[in-house]
Amino acid sequence: MQLKSLATAVLALSAALVGASASADTLKFGKSEDAVKYRQSSLFVMSQHFGSLGAMANGRAEFNADLAKQNGAVLETIAALPWQAFGAGTEGGKTKPEAWSQKAKFDEHANKFVAEAGKLAAAAKTGDLAQLKAAFGPAAQTCKACHDAFRNR
Ligand code: HEC
Repeated sequence: MQLKSLATAVLALSAALVGASASADTLKFGKSEDAVKYRQSSLFVMSQHFGSLGAMANGRAEFNADLAKQNGAVLETIAALPWQAFGAGTEGGKTKPEAWSQKAKFDEHANKFVAEAGKLAAAAKTGDLAQLKAAFGPAAQTCKACHDAFRNR
């Protein structure tokens, strides 16, 4: 598939998911290993798109408004996905047990992050580098806050 049509397909998918309420759990995992693999994979993919925005925000990569917009849209879609894979009985991976014993706090971190990812995507959509810069730091802070509390080093 051409890169351009792949990007178009991803954008269409993200539009469809947002339309269908991105926060709803769309999956039930048969095996807890699948849940672990799913959350690690989605977090990894998310981090790549987030990192692309960060490189532009921090001046490590040249700003490209189209690229920022596309990465923002993908980020916004993927930001909603990992959390459904932290259900009861899926303990493991690099996640601390507190993600289950303090589930409300974990969910709060996840929700805060999803909100910041939405703001970052909106900033990326403006095509204005200053707005991208302003939104990136607060979003990155929500990654760090959750990792500090709930991820093993
Ligand atoms: C609500 C909590 C939370 C938020 C928010 C969060 N993470 Fe994580 N992240 C985790 C946990 C927990 C793991 C470990 C998952 C596991 O192995 O079970 C993880 C794992 C990862 C991994 C490793 C995935 C792999 O390959 O195993 C990456 C990369 C990552 N996060 C990036 C990010 C980035 C970038 C952000 C923000 C844009 C972010 N995360 C936001 C909780 C969070």
